[in-house]
Amino acid sequence: MNSRHVPASLTLHTDSPPATQRIGVAIGRAVAAGQVIALCGDLGAGKTTLVQGIAAGMGVHARVTSPTFILMNEYATEDGRRLVHIDAYRLAERATLADAATFGLADLLAEAGMDGVNVVAIEWADRVAALLPADLLTITLVASEDDPEARILQLTATGAQSAAVIEQLLTSGALADLPESTGTPRKM
Ligand SMILES: Nc1ncnc2c1ncn2[C@@H]1O[C@H](COP(=O)(O)OP(=O)(O)O)[C@@H](O)[C@H]1O
Ligand SMILES: [Mg+2]
Repeated sequence: MNSRHVPASLTLHTDSPPATQRIGVAIGRAVAAGQVIALCGDLGAGKTTLVQGIAAGMGVHARVTSPTFILMNEYATEDGRRLVHIDAYRLAERATLADAATFGLADLLAEAGMDGVNVVAIEWADRVAALLPADLLTITLVASEDDPEARILQLTATGAQSAAVIEQLLTSGALADLPESTGTPRKM
């Protein structure tokens, strides 16, 4: 296969919760089964808000709530896929593999790529970094100091499947009305 330039990172700015959800919808439309999405950022950064959009974009009809106290929720999409929404917040800052194994995260991630059904979105993914696959779409959300509704989303792809999501976001035009977006092409 010829090597070509694929977008490996993308910075997006949002100025409201609905704008963050719209980004999520675009991501939800772009992901394929087996995709793992790592969500990083402080409490209140907007991780769950973004997952609500991802779910809508994937065709989930159920209301998506924060799984913080139960660690994991599963949602069926209208086309027979599944969005698995995990929140690792309650794990220790450096969770051991045994901690994560208690809720089957290792198995779940291993299966995600294989069964052709699951998309996995993990809040506080940094706490289970050792378990995450190499091909990962990492989204770091950062609040802005001057505007309480502004967020910066930094998307980074570390593999072909994840890079394809960023490429799809850039080519679909779905993000055209956002305040600002910058793609950084990298040769892979
Ligand atoms: N641009 C924005 N994007 C997402 N959430 C925002 C934004 N501006 C304000 N908010 C507020 O920040 C909070 C984000 O909460 P949530 O999505 O649960 O964060 P997290 O899951 O990262 O803890 C919500 O109360 C939401 O209304
Ligand atoms: Mg949350």
